[in-house]
Amino acid sequence: MSAETSLAVETNGENESTESEFQKGVKHLCERGITKVPTKYVWPIPDRPNSGNGNSSASIPNLKLPIIDFSKLQGSNRSQAINSLKNACEKFGFFQLVNHDIPRDVIESIIDVSKRFFELPFEERSKYISTDMRSPVRYGTSSNQNKDDIYCWRDFLKLSCQPLSDVLPLWPSSPVDLRQAVLDYSKNTKFLYLMLTEAILESLELMDITNNENENDEFREFKDGSQLIVVNCYPACPEPDLTLGLPPHSDYGLLTLLLQDEVQGLQIQYEGRWVTVEPLPDSLVVNIGDHLEIFSNGKYRSLIHRVLVNPSKSRISIASLHSLPFNSVVQPSPKLIDEDNPRRYMDTDFASFLDYCSSSESKRKSFLESRKLT
Ligand code: OGA
Ligand code: NI
Repeated sequence: MSAETSLAVETNGENESTESEFQKGVKHLCERGITKVPTKYVWPIPDRPNSGNGNSSASIPNLKLPIIDFSKLQGSNRSQAINSLKNACEKFGFFQLVNHDIPRDVIESIIDVSKRFFELPFEERSKYISTDMRSPVRYGTSSNQNKDDIYCWRDFLKLSCQPLSDVLPLWPSSPVDLRQAVLDYSKNTKFLYLMLTEAILESLELMDITNNENENDEFREFKDGSQLIVVNCYPACPEPDLTLGLPPHSDYGLLTLLLQDEVQGLQIQYEGRWVTVEPLPDSLVVNIGDHLEIFSNGKYRSLIHRVLVNPSKSRISIASLHSLPFNSVVQPSPKLIDEDNPRRYMDTDFASFLDYCSSSESKRKSFLESRKLT
């Protein structure tokens, strides 16, 4: 890299040619060699990782998230496990899932292939760039790269998982083992999602467990929902205190299952403070999304979380996002509404989410906030 280009990147965030370089992602930027975070990625002081703002993570002992043992949900102590699940969903909307039974090689393969995907030459990765939120395969950077004034320190690959026969041939063909690894991982997480959703409905007392088929209308809807695998790459950052891997957000959808590598970075906002979720070996972080908060009429919480970046280590995480089918409308379950618990959210669908994303409202409040009835 010439000194001239280096200067352009480091000192001039507004330069047009540099602007288009930022579109190519953080990994690309880092490969060109930088020692400072370009202005484009510098967040205002109150939003930074260590701002006073009641959010100083440094002074807070790391909070232990509830641990849900998947094997207990399947065993003779189910009712006790359901109770723990209920408490976790009410209090945090986040928990660590252990004994989840996903074979170790499936986990190792998805992490490994994800790392190798982001190590491919930019030209190879760039084949999958799409700014269409409905595209089944999207490689991109930041959060919403067409709209974000300030970028986050994150590149991603989003792979839609249905219908599998249609989307599989569209997934990246390089590395050669990517499709198989994502396929195996997505099937395992879909199964876990189904088992967890069933348990969550039971914990909300919406599942008729005397019914042999063990199914009801809600479950049928949830079962046919969509799955999106998001591979996040957060390259090591020379000035991690100035930027964010992901800004505060809650997850759209019903449930997110997150696999993080051994590098920490995820924080949840709990009682007004930012708390780091420490990676627990062999676990998955599960969180309630906006749809489930709406469906439960606010009983279960879709918590705000964010991602910090690291000065020395690149971090990979893989989120499996499960939502209702694209055309479905989510609304508070009528069974959870009564005089004491009036309806708290508007009907919500994917179109309302897209409208929100392209509206100026998205700068002022979260999507979930925008769906609340006042
Ligand atoms: C997300 C997310 C957390 C992480 O993808 O929505 O919150 O640790 N990811 O990458
Ligand atoms: Ni998230």
